[in-house]
Amino acid sequence: MTKGIFSADRPAVCLAPMAGFSDRTFRLLCRERGADLVFSEMISAKGLLYMSEKTRALYFTRDEDAPFCVQLFGSEPETLANAVAIVERDLGEKLLSIDLNMGCPAPKIAGNGDGSALMLDPKLAGRIVAATVKAAHVPVSVKFRKGWDDEHLNAEAFARVCEDNGAAFVTIHGRTRAQMYSGKADRACMAAVKQAVSIPVIANGDVHDAASALETLRETGCDGIMLGRGALGNPFVFAEIRAALDGRVYTPPTWEERRETALRHARMALAEKGDHAIVELRKHLAFYLRGFPEAAKLRIRVNSCKTLEELEQIWG
Ligand SMILES: Cc1cc2nc3c(=O)[nH]c(=O)nc-3n(C[C@H](O)[C@H](O)[C@H](O)COP(=O)(O)O)c2cc1C
Repeated sequence: MTKGIFSADRPAVCLAPMAGFSDRTFRLLCRERGADLVFSEMISAKGLLYMSEKTRALYFTRDEDAPFCVQLFGSEPETLANAVAIVERDLGEKLLSIDLNMGCPAPKIAGNGDGSALMLDPKLAGRIVAATVKAAHVPVSVKFRKGWDDEHLNAEAFARVCEDNGAAFVTIHGRTRAQMYSGKADRACMAAVKQAVSIPVIANGDVHDAASALETLRETGCDGIMLGRGALGNPFVFAEIRAALDGRVYTPPTWEERRETALRHARMALAEKGDHAIVELRKHLAFYLRGFPEAAKLRIRVNSCKTLEELEQIWG
């Protein structure tokens, strides 16, 4: 079921699902630079059943887009199965796979029994995976954490539950729910998950350049790596990692190239969503601006822009 997603001779380099960031424009820019596998942000299965246009817009795509993974969250097996049918109908050939979010630590998600809360109820998690696999015509994967907290470390057993219920691959983020995004991601835990199952495993957490990518792959033996924060404002990181994996010399982008890419990102996003999207674009631009000469001053000016023309005048 993972044919076309994983290849035996090269690890998969993936863009993480990130709420508010992993839209079509950003996925495209990362893919252009070598990301093999890109995910939508997490999408509410319940929201899809209500046929919420706002929810469906989260996996908006176009004909020229390549197939991508859609991540769903929810905790009712039947709701997820029904949501899969909607995603499949909407996306057709553009849907590569469905990912189930069992790692989100946000109180409004986990407090509702969704996301990482499912790690406390592996039986229910197994039923969700089984129902989704049964409903889907594409591979189903699961993304989860090291455990709920230090008293509940069950990533290996959880990975086996996913495998036993038909998951095609899993992603392990090497932090507990209690850690949220702090502390170091635990590579030993990622390695243990890899050993625990025979389906492909993607290692996630603290991969932000070629060195951390190679170290993570070497220390965990995983079949791929997934980048979240390291890719924000830096889609170039995929080219850097790809070059390192292929043994090629990598030339980092100049500031001029970074600025050009940020503006291209803005043009693409605003052409798709309209000028009002400039507000949500600001957080992407803030990441592109990191390290730029006079970044703080420029950020204030960029944040005051209301149209693409204004942005191009200020930063063009
Ligand atoms: C802004 C932001 C939004 C995120 N949204 C999601 C999400 O929608 N689904 C998900 O599974 N993980 C989400 N994550 C977690 C990332 O996918 C990833 O697991 C985490 O950031 C660790 O990887 P990193 O160290 O490479 O950032 C999010 C993380 C960030 C920073």
